Amino acid sequence: MTEQKSTNITWHKPLVSQTDRERKNQHKGIVIWLTGLPSSGKSTLAHEVERRLFEKGYNSYVLDGDNIRHGLNKNLGFSPEDRKENIRRIGEVARLFADAGVIAITAFISPYRDDRAQARALNPRGRFIEVYCKCSVKECEKRDAKGLWQKARKGEVKEFTGVSAPYEEPETPEIIIETDKCSLEECAQHIISYLEEKNIVPSVPNARKC
Ligand code: ADX
Repeated sequence: MTEQKSTNITWHKPLVSQTDRERKNQHKGIVIWLTGLPSSGKSTLAHEVERRLFEKGYNSYVLDGDNIRHGLNKNLGFSPEDRKENIRRIGEVARLFADAGVIAITAFISPYRDDRAQARALNPRGRFIEVYCKCSVKECEKRDAKGLWQKARKGEVKEFTGVSAPYEEPETPEIIIETDKCSLEECAQHIISYLEEKNIVPSVPNARKC
């Protein structure tokens, strides 16, 4: 549990609620939490889903591990403690996005079950969708777009997830996407169909008013 250091602070109740925002947007504000090994396709899938939602007129935004580590989380490395803090901050940011009525799509390895559970616990039931981007180590290593798997095997990158740092598979994710078996189109459609089935976005796009 992160220590509460600030004192004398008061929660200010907003005048515009999440429900008000959702009525205006005509879709729910939620967190889609992608987790998986490096090179399992999280970022690619997150951006494809975002693009599709954007084209349908919905408000979505990708929070991507590599990108966020350039700014908000630039002071964090890859020790278990730093990864924990990385995920804690992003869990909070994603919740704020959802509260603002946005479909927040996070793409972080998020290797520890406990950390993902904490991010989930910040959201009401049904508002956090854990998506396990399941991909074999063999396939991740073959893709290796950033060359990090190869470097990690040579010992040039320390604490690398899948080689010298653990990845704890989700036990009961809402969605499992086998990114080494399905095309990007199929994987993205799988998530969009889930959102429609759960009435997070309208299932008939044309029903959305201007
Ligand atoms: S997490 O474990 O804390 O969730 P995060 O998703 O933010 O990780 O960042 C992972 C990205 O950082 C990878 O896609 C990779 O490009 C880069 N990276 C650099 N060093 C490591 C490492 N030791 N382990 C995993 N990823 C690393």
